[in-house]
Amino acid sequence: MSIHTKVSDLADNILEKIKNSKRVSALTGAGVSAESGVPTFRGSDGLWNNYRAEELATPQAFKRDPNLVWRWYDWRRTLLAPLRPNDGHYALSQMEKFYDDFTLVTQNVDGLHRMAGSKTPVELHGNIWLMRCVSEGTVTENRNAPLVAMPPVCNDCGGLLRPHIVWFGESLDEDILTRAFRAAEQCDLFFVIGTSGVVQPSASLASIAQQNSATVIEINLEPTPITDVADATLLGPSAKIMPELLEAVGGNPP
Ligand code: OAD
Repeated sequence: MSIHTKVSDLADNILEKIKNSKRVSALTGAGVSAESGVPTFRGSDGLWNNYRAEELATPQAFKRDPNLVWRWYDWRRTLLAPLRPNDGHYALSQMEKFYDDFTLVTQNVDGLHRMAGSKTPVELHGNIWLMRCVSEGTVTENRNAPLVAMPPVCNDCGGLLRPHIVWFGESLDEDILTRAFRAAEQCDLFFVIGTSGVVQPSASLASIAQQNSATVIEINLEPTPITDVADATLLGPSAKIMPELLEAVGGNPP
């Protein structure tokens, strides 16, 4: 474990890994979007009408009062709609070009990685711009913010739509999970960026990568439980550190 504030201060063997690894994966959390203006989950600004996310992002809350849950999502979507990716997102999308194999796994539902150009991010917790028909399971994109009709219904069958998001108490999609675990197991280099490392299974992905001999590099404003398993931690905002890392690989920082 070593803690630094600049990429240039990393040990030579770590810099070598950053430059020469072929299979690379990155796991991102809310911290990557913080500089775009998206509130982090465990920050102080996560309340809506005195409800905590844990009270509304559940299947029980949706069953009890779909309108209430949709009003909360409508508020969140309206907050997110004008936000744009930051240099951390852009650096990550550029990295795809510099490594033979690059898998981006994210816990974020804001869609900013895609907007920055990342091709196929593995979205562990879903995407706030997608809706799923409760009856048929079909998934559609809807960018209206605010929503036109509340609650939204399926164009095909008239059934209720729900956010295509993994709620508290729900299981993650198996396919998505397999891709995330494979990304951690099969990489030579694993970046963990802007996540508090307390939500499973994301929290275990860094350990899995490390057990499979990958070099693990953490980027965060502060040490986290992941710091103990990381080969190096870079303390600083991801919008500053990720462009430095991109430059180390040979890319032009955004
Ligand atoms: P958290 O809010 O738990 O953690 C955000 C992390 O980002 C913290 O460790 C901060 O120190 C760090 N951070 C903040 N600003 C940063 C910046 N500019 N640069 C780098 N790091 C920064 O968010 P997550 O770890 O993403 O799940 O939370 C994981 C999951 O918990 C979320 O996806 C959500 C929640 O329950 C669901 O919605 C299912």
